[in-house]
Amino acid sequence: MVPTVEWKDGAVRLLDQSRLPEKVEFLDCRDYQTVARAILELRVRGAPAIGVTAAMGIALGAQSLPMTGYDEFAKAVTRICEHLAATRPTAVNLFWAIERMKRTLAGLRGQPVAEIKRRLVEESQRILDEDVAMNKAMGQHGAALVRDGQTILTHCNAGALATAGYGTALGVVRAAWEQGKKIRVLADETRPVLQGARLTVWELMQDKIPVTLITDSMAGALMKQGLVHLCIVGADRIAANGDVANKIGTYSVAVLAKAHGIPFYVAAPHSTIDLATPSGDRIPIEQRNPQEVTSVHGGPAIAPAGTEVLNPAFDVTPASYITAVITERGVFKPGELSRQFRV
Ligand code: MRU
Repeated sequence: MVPTVEWKDGAVRLLDQSRLPEKVEFLDCRDYQTVARAILELRVRGAPAIGVTAAMGIALGAQSLPMTGYDEFAKAVTRICEHLAATRPTAVNLFWAIERMKRTLAGLRGQPVAEIKRRLVEESQRILDEDVAMNKAMGQHGAALVRDGQTILTHCNAGALATAGYGTALGVVRAAWEQGKKIRVLADETRPVLQGARLTVWELMQDKIPVTLITDSMAGALMKQGLVHLCIVGADRIAANGDVANKIGTYSVAVLAKAHGIPFYVAAPHSTIDLATPSGDRIPIEQRNPQEVTSVHGGPAIAPAGTEVLNPAFDVTPASYITAVITERGVFKPGELSRQFRV
């Protein structure tokens, strides 16, 4: 897989996911404002990838700051952090990564600014490397839940593209496939932005993992026919009580899975678990541009001009619909997370 995000020759290089699957194009961000815009415009998306990108954006922004005194420098870095934090509200990985960069900065007070700049780049690279390692560990834990011959339904893209590499839900798929299990993925197209059709299908085809595309409305009928053995999705934020915010439509899949007695798993690293948010109804849900609904992938309008639109980008699946959460530390019931991940 081509890297989703990397530090390359003093710039943040992103695989431009808004162009997929038609074009594999890279965007070299040379200032933090371009990084922020790329997050806002979904050129890079997926909770862990957003976090890693923001960390690199902070490191990038810090490089061009002219001040030599710590206090002035730290103030300016904090402003960069605020700019990046204002891009997308739901994925907690964004705020987690920004907080980690701020802690690194605070821990370097007293060091020469040139040294702090270097260490901020190092920290953002560490966040990236740890993300890949967590996904691989999650893959191993999750693969034990997948049996040879099974069909896995997934929603949105929680793959290598949504992370620094390997993926969360698709990391589990990848690990099971690498173990030689003959599995198949059913990918919900995931309206309105089609992360399933454009990204999940593309990504799995790159690795030659069997994948079949369905529209979101087909999931229930296929479950009823016994064609889905388990569901695995990612998460943008998991509240302390185990409620999960993920791409709009995830809740419908979870309700259908429960109605058909199909296990419903969420795969997510600790950077997605937000113990400060007690329950799902407190998770901020991003509302996006109506044009994402009134057209398909930037094409002509599919609804009359002036159509009233709702476009929440995420929904919340109550913990009671979730069989278990696959993390880098093991597989837990949603209600066990707060104990397992308390710092
Ligand atoms: O709007 P997006 O594409 O950023 O939404 C992404 C999702 O909902 C993913 O399922 C989630 O971030 C988990 S990614 C490992």
